[in-house]
Amino acid sequence: MLTGMSTPPADDRTAIQVRGLTKSFTQSHVLRGVDIDVARGSIFALLGSNGAGKTTLVKILSTLLQADSGSARVNGFDVAGQAADVRQSISLTGQFAAVDEILTGRENLIMVARLRHLRNAGTLADDLLRRFSLTEAGARRVGTYSGGMRRRLDIAMSLVGTPPIIFLDEPTTGLDPEARLEVWRAVQELASGGTTVLLTTQYLDEAEHLADRIAILHEGRILVDGTLDELRALLPAAKVEYVEKQPTLEDVFLSLVGATPNGEQR
Ligand SMILES: Nc1ncnc2c1ncn2[C@@H]1O[C@H](COP(=O)(O)OP(=O)(O)OP(=O)(O)O)[C@@H](O)[C@H]1O
Ligand SMILES: [Mg+2]
Repeated sequence: MLTGMSTPPADDRTAIQVRGLTKSFTQSHVLRGVDIDVARGSIFALLGSNGAGKTTLVKILSTLLQADSGSARVNGFDVAGQAADVRQSISLTGQFAAVDEILTGRENLIMVARLRHLRNAGTLADDLLRRFSLTEAGARRVGTYSGGMRRRLDIAMSLVGTPPIIFLDEPTTGLDPEARLEVWRAVQELASGGTTVLLTTQYLDEAEHLADRIAILHEGRILVDGTLDELRALLPAAKVEYVEKQPTLEDVFLSLVGATPNGEQR
């Protein structure tokens, strides 16, 4: 997890701009010329199958990996030439949770706040615990948390220092439907507060539900990039047919366990 603070250039409405980015590993050309633009304060979903290169792209944008060619600017800063400024502008919640199991949730948050030299680490930790519905669990060791609670704590930790741009690599993989809804709510809150969110996912409904723009990464390139309506318009117009609509398994599950797709309890 990386996090920090930086003031964005005032006139720059694009949080993330990627042009012609390529990256190869010995065996494979993973990224073959990727272009994306992410507007400030928006939620951008990057879709792709296993091995499509989503994590590779996120790592390049968060300066953990160098591209072979092309350019990427994050918060107005060049990922290759201004890596320190980029790191100050972002936080990254990786594909695998980076919380310390021995510490409590609150201690994890305080540790990150101290590492960032922030004052009022305790108040900050309590605020974040509240935002992520972890107040009661805050005093417990993370080792006792469920997967969803860990994931929420992981995201909360990446928000210490209120970075303007946040990368979430598969934030809901492995979570049960209720925990997913909680993470979705947290992501929506972030964006409504002005944070730019780039997330990767393999769940199409997650992108559909959350994202302002969706890009599909396939065979090293962005196959399509647009709003949900723009992507829908790529297919032939809908036919009017009579179909009996069966509830999805998700509908059944959520109705039995008492949550709605918007995350409110029934
Ligand atoms: N350090 C590395 N060395 C060699 N190959 C790598 C390395 N990192 C990634 N790859 C390869 O690059 C390809 C893309 O991997 P990446 O992790 O970016 O995919 P992904 O879209 O995040 O997949 P997933 O959905 O499984 O997380 C894979 O074929 C992977 O094996
Ligand atoms: Mg990945």
